[in-house]
Amino acid sequence: MAVVEHGALVTRAGSIDWIGEEASAPAADQTVDLAGAWVTPGLIDCHTHLVFAGNRAGEYAERLQGASYEDIARLGGGILSTMRAVRVASEQQLFDESAPRLEALLAEGVTTVEIKSGYGLTLAGEAKMLRVARALGREYPVTIKTTLLAAHTVPPEFSDRAHDYIATIADEWLPALHSDSLVDAVDVFCEGIGFNIAQAERLFAAAKELGVPVKMHAEQLSRTGGTQLATRFDALSCDHLEYATAEDAVALARARTMPVLLPIAHYCLGGKQIPPIAAFRSCGGGMAVATDCNPGSAPGTSLLLAMSMATRLFGLTAAEALAGVTRHAARALGLGVETGAVGSSAQAGRAANARRARCGELAVGAAADFVVWNVSAIEELGYWIGFNPCRQVIRAGRVVS
Ligand code: NIG
Ligand code: FE
Repeated sequence: MAVVEHGALVTRAGSIDWIGEEASAPAADQTVDLAGAWVTPGLIDCHTHLVFAGNRAGEYAERLQGASYEDIARLGGGILSTMRAVRVASEQQLFDESAPRLEALLAEGVTTVEIKSGYGLTLAGEAKMLRVARALGREYPVTIKTTLLAAHTVPPEFSDRAHDYIATIADEWLPALHSDSLVDAVDVFCEGIGFNIAQAERLFAAAKELGVPVKMHAEQLSRTGGTQLATRFDALSCDHLEYATAEDAVALARARTMPVLLPIAHYCLGGKQIPPIAAFRSCGGGMAVATDCNPGSAPGTSLLLAMSMATRLFGLTAAEALAGVTRHAARALGLGVETGAVGSSAQAGRAANARRARCGELAVGAAADFVVWNVSAIEELGYWIGFNPCRQVIRAGRVVS
């Protein structure tokens, strides 16, 4: 983490035009004195399922009594329970239920959010969720990246036909939703209670054909080997990773696939297995941290809490946690400042992303997304629990709060 003391930055047309020490700052039309406050890049929540209807507090109570997440899913609860609620909700209801969760994230300095589908599980239902995600991005001062997660679980229409379901997503839904510009990336829940490696590969091949980048819910409840597959497809990220191995960490770093840690899900599921943090650290590829906001495993709308849990539960340093919600989170979305320099191995989707506004760092040319904090040391960001030290948020050069 590079710290500029007595720093200043100049913005122009929504981007950072200059950054350095105040003493050598160029003249500007208008200046704002932040009186020595800490400034960080706008925070990035790179893994959420925040568009959903209803909640699953009842399942949480069952888990407290000893039921497992997998047991509840196998009995038709879990993701299918939220699917039923989302299918009957109108687009407006879905927007209205999701907006307060987004507002909670934004209040803590978040300026970019990834939102997954995955509770419609029909073409129309997935489209509805993705349109709501896009609408949130139009109504709020935030950059929204959408991810198609139709491969979240097998819906009743395809019961015992997971293979046909994947083929339908790959051959019909993904091309249709992509041509409606609703899909920035494709994700799959690769797990015993989700989809297997061959099914994930089928979906990834279709995404590659269209130039859409891929991601994976990988090694969350067991080791499936999904990470190795995802890295062969230049995945932007592999997420959860509690059961990933040191070999997986090496593959991730080689492929420049970002490991994304989701400590709120780990906490809410009462997880015992910790992701291989030391291996990620020694491979040097970075680690991102996100909320995983969803009604089942992680009903959380605080990225600062995710930072706190990443330090206390997973052993990240404060600097790693901050990088995890800024520059490494940006890379998990293909928005990293260094994304443009990935080179010839980068897939088409990454090249397309590189042309969009880059974020996650206070660097010349990056989006002028930044947060002014009421803290005296940057370690305070993952230290307070339930206290919000966010003073002011600037997105694309404009004060938004
Ligand atoms: O990231 N594991 C799969 N998907 C989500 C949970 C979704 C849900 O339970 O509704 C996750 O943990
Ligand atoms: Fe998730």
